[in-house]
Amino acid sequence: MTSARLALSTWMLVGLIGGCADDEVAQAMPGEREAAACYGCHGGIDRATGRNYPNLKGLDRNYLIESMRDYAEKRRSSPIMHSFVSGLSEPQRHVIANFYSELDR
Ligand code: HEC
Repeated sequence: MTSARLALSTWMLVGLIGGCADDEVAQAMPGEREAAACYGCHGGIDRATGRNYPNLKGLDRNYLIESMRDYAEKRRSSPIMHSFVSGLSEPQRHVIANFYSELDR
């Protein structure tokens, strides 16, 4: 077993046994992984929204889902956003929308 694999399995084991999040082994919040592609522009946990980009934190969940759908289907025009959301499945969009709507603005 390589040391990287060992470290990974140790980390997973600690995560399983530890259960609750603490500062050392922070449990990812549901949707955090999916939203990682959006962080650079729209911010996230402990990450500010980029300049000139809309802040998604605390927005209404349904609004977020609708907006993603609209960009994907080009009812709302933004080449950047079209490319980011058109590859996402409907369940992924829901998970991301849940994630952002739960964050404080
Ligand atoms: C490279 C920067 C960038 C990335 C990465 C990015 N976006 Fe965007 N996003 C934008 C820009 C620019 C706009 C404003 C577009 C417009 O004019 O409608 C926007 C707008 C939005 C809006 C509408 C916000 C509002 O207030 O109406 C949503 C929802 C959104 N993005 C979701 C996402 C999601 C989900 C991801 C990740 C899968 C993502 N974006 C990744 C740049 C980005």
